[in-house]
Amino acid sequence: MEKKRFYITTPIYYPSDKLHIGHTYCTVAADTMARYKRLQGCDVLFLTGTDEHGQKIEDKAKEAGVTPKQFVDNIVEGAHGVRDLWKLMNISNDRFIRTTDDYHIAAVQKIFKKMYEKGDIYKGTYKGKYCKPCESFWTESQLVDGKCPDCGREVQDAEEEAYFFRLSKYADRIRDLLENTDYLEPRSRVNEMVNNFIKPGLEDLCVSRTSFSWGIPVDFDPGHVVYVWVDALFNYTTALGFLNDKYDDYEKFWPADVHFVGKEIVRFHSIIWPAMLMSMEMPLPKKVYGHGWLLLDGGKMSKSKGNVVDPYLLAEHFGVDALRFFLLRTFPFGSDGNFSNESLINTINVDLANDLGNLVSRTVSMVGKYFDNTLPADQAEDAEKDAELVAMIGALRGKYEEQMEKYAFQNGLSEIFKVIDRANKYIDENAPWVLAKDMEANGPRLARVMYNLLEALRVSAVLLTPFIPDTAAKILDQIGAAADLRSWDSVGAYGALPHDVTVVRGENLFPRVDAEKELALLDQIAEASKKAALPALELEPQTEEKVDFDTFCKSDFRAVKVKECVNVKKSDKLLKFTLDDGTGEDRQILSGIAKYYKPEELVGKTLLAIVNLPPRKMMGQLSAGMLISAVHTEHGEEKLNLVMLDDKIPAGAKMC
Ligand code: MSP
Repeated sequence: MEKKRFYITTPIYYPSDKLHIGHTYCTVAADTMARYKRLQGCDVLFLTGTDEHGQKIEDKAKEAGVTPKQFVDNIVEGAHGVRDLWKLMNISNDRFIRTTDDYHIAAVQKIFKKMYEKGDIYKGTYKGKYCKPCESFWTESQLVDGKCPDCGREVQDAEEEAYFFRLSKYADRIRDLLENTDYLEPRSRVNEMVNNFIKPGLEDLCVSRTSFSWGIPVDFDPGHVVYVWVDALFNYTTALGFLNDKYDDYEKFWPADVHFVGKEIVRFHSIIWPAMLMSMEMPLPKKVYGHGWLLLDGGKMSKSKGNVVDPYLLAEHFGVDALRFFLLRTFPFGSDGNFSNESLINTINVDLANDLGNLVSRTVSMVGKYFDNTLPADQAEDAEKDAELVAMIGALRGKYEEQMEKYAFQNGLSEIFKVIDRANKYIDENAPWVLAKDMEANGPRLARVMYNLLEALRVSAVLLTPFIPDTAAKILDQIGAAADLRSWDSVGAYGALPHDVTVVRGENLFPRVDAEKELALLDQIAEASKKAALPALELEPQTEEKVDFDTFCKSDFRAVKVKECVNVKKSDKLLKFTLDDGTGEDRQILSGIAKYYKPEELVGKTLLAIVNLPPRKMMGQLSAGMLISAVHTEHGEEKLNLVMLDDKIPAGAKMC
């Protein structure tokens, strides 16, 4: 029988920065789906890649002093780059597309021309805002406070020649697609699209740019580059060989079974993408699934906010499978979820260490202890005691499949963990250690108890394989499941494991995480990387306003020697200085620098003060003048240093 085909894609990622855990989330989900379909016996094509054109990349490359291609090559192929990350996360993509690949570029040029020749792309004028000094076009929404987002200067209305796609022509068909088919899921996203974009009226879409050059050139009109989303969306078909000779899988795999995409790009995939495919008279993908975001402290992760979570760091600390598992076990795929180190550690300790890990290690070690690793074939069932667990094992695959077909990864895992929980309870109910006291009488019964536990583990581990491929294989090794007992068919019903199975004791697969220690360590690392992301040194900009010499000379700066320095009571900021200013009378100055100095460090020092400021009261005490200090910001932290003079300068010496 011919195998069923399954084509799944992730979005292709912008390599403008290193990827974070949010990007990893979608790719791990798609990988799990691809592995699940392979387990079912489908012929799977799983595509991911990178979306490498556009102004943002051009700008970043310029900032870094390299060409755009060198810039993206480094983030895609370099150390800790996109490819490295997918390798680390055990992502089993069959293909990886880069939109800078020659075959893709040539195919997109042909696609653009086809839509142009058909009349669905036409030349018009793009109205926007122009910043003359920067020679940049901006849309209204890109402006910051109505000014150029780059230099902050005034912008003016301007027009640019551009190509447009007749999106408006397809509005009715798109609405019908969204409202009357299952094209877009979860369903809640359909209302969002229809209400926010379709009902207000779809306008034609600007699909070329002339204001920058890092893009696919429109080959029949030099100077124009193809809008990055047109370039990017067609990756799903060029990677199969559409209008190119690099691959030959278009007929076999198009239309895609599902595109996984984050919620903010659902609009592109559910409105623009099908409209362009309609224009090209190509079949539409069967489904777009718009998943939720991983949030941090309730907000979206972003490099500029410095609140991204590094998947390399987490994988190194907790293991790749634990991280994969956590992402899909903790958050419902269609909704947003709040990431925290606490919930990661909690999931590892509760589900993996306590429930699954313990079940594996207890079961395998009991088979070792009571039966020298090999169960006897002579076993005694207890219909009443075994019924529930046996029935649950037999029904698991069906329940799991029902959830997985809906991309409900969390629920699929819940079904597995119901069986794992039941098996743990089954150990307590049957108390193997009591049975083992009289092996002659209870040996066959004890053997069946062990068998049922191994069978629960086998079926669970096979169905866990798409989620935690390496660890599931280790579980199956430990419980002695041969290759043919790891297949989809072998878990359709209870009882495929041979009765005289031999187990192989192995390492503890899920050691408990010391939550307090790990959390402290992760907090430290996060703090350090947040600081590292901030500019090392920030200085106050110099004042442009000039001060005339006479006014400057009125400021009376003097050397002062610290006779006494104490903290001001009830203030955690103020230090009180008693100073020798050369007049023979003590001068008192209060200064808000307690955060930076201990009073005793300053006694005897020669400082610089302005002494002719009008005296004022602070916390009820008089302050006559001000001590001069230098301030700057280092890694986001304000630093202050008192100006200290050479001690040979006498008190009262005037500074000029
Ligand atoms: N290049 C486009 C996609 C083009 S597809 C034809 C793009 N790239 S992206 O790198 O900005 O984002 C890629 C995917 O990562 C998107 O689906 C986005 O939703 C997802 N995520 C980025 N941050 C995320 C979270 N914090 N949480 C979950 N997914 C998020 O968009």
